[in-house]
Amino acid sequence: MVDLTPERIVRLESDAVVLLDQRRLPDDEVELRCTSAAEVAEAIRTLAIRGAPAIGVAAAYGLALAAARGEDLDAAYDVLASSRPTAVNLRWALDELRNDPTAERARALHREEVARCREMGRHAVEIFRARQASPLRVLTHCNTGALATAGYGSALGAVRAAWDAGLVEHVWVGETRPLLQGARLTAWELDALGIPYSVIVDGAAASLMAGGDVDAVLTGADRVAANGDVANKVGTYGLALAASRHRLPFVVVAPTSTLDPSAASGADIPIEERDPGEVSTAFPARNPAFDVTPAALVTAIVTEVGVHRAPYESSLPVPAQTR
Ligand code: MRU
Repeated sequence: MVDLTPERIVRLESDAVVLLDQRRLPDDEVELRCTSAAEVAEAIRTLAIRGAPAIGVAAAYGLALAAARGEDLDAAYDVLASSRPTAVNLRWALDELRNDPTAERARALHREEVARCREMGRHAVEIFRARQASPLRVLTHCNTGALATAGYGSALGAVRAAWDAGLVEHVWVGETRPLLQGARLTAWELDALGIPYSVIVDGAAASLMAGGDVDAVLTGADRVAANGDVANKVGTYGLALAASRHRLPFVVVAPTSTLDPSAASGADIPIEERDPGEVSTAFPARNPAFDVTPAALVTAIVTEVGVHRAPYESSLPVPAQTR
């Protein structure tokens, strides 16, 4: 029985941050114990835990662990903040914890992120309902489920809420080259949830749209700029272009912890370049891990506050604060 509870995905114990090692899924369900901020940073860098909200939660726990161990907190902040560049949730979570790096505060941040996901699911269901009477065939990319958010999910959380409401017929899961977050992680989650799905190669998405097999595209985000440009897993931009060509809604589901009002546009978002060896071990390769989808291609952005539409400069809310 697959366990997708928030504590199973990542939790803080008295002497360690413990996380489900996502590099090993779906073959092995193995926990990884990180006993210092540097070890948490390494787990984030190597994708043992990944997905924008989940790495924010892991970093918060990492800072709380560092405080409990008497580590230098500035050094802990820096090693965690520099573990990955694109998802703004990382810096947001560390800033939330900076003045009060306690276990209680970190756990509250985790609880609140999961609650935000459930709220996003509630708002997204309204979009599904408004579309049409019959259940939708949704295409998604990367993994935006419980694993990526440390509980419930963003875009996949929306699919989950819509499935529970009888509004989803099928999910097309983009495999998400090169590390297969779709084929390994999203498929694993949908399987556990009993939601019908098929994995497709990334290159099949546009022709499925052309053939009338897709009703909507839903993705998460790693950072949303003030103008509504969206950085997300590489390949998202191509999906948005194809969706626009086929007049399909392209909807982004992300908590306000993913909004970055200090980035005026996507040009201000740092794009992570990962090891080319993840793409090819035999030949020269380049490996940008994210891309930017211009706001003009985004039909709506769903946050825990509601459904936001262009012009995003005025419709997007401000990032949440941990209570
Ligand atoms: O490199 P990853 O696996 O961390 O990339 C994750 C994504 O791009 C997700 O789509 C994004 O973080 C949104 S998940 C809620």
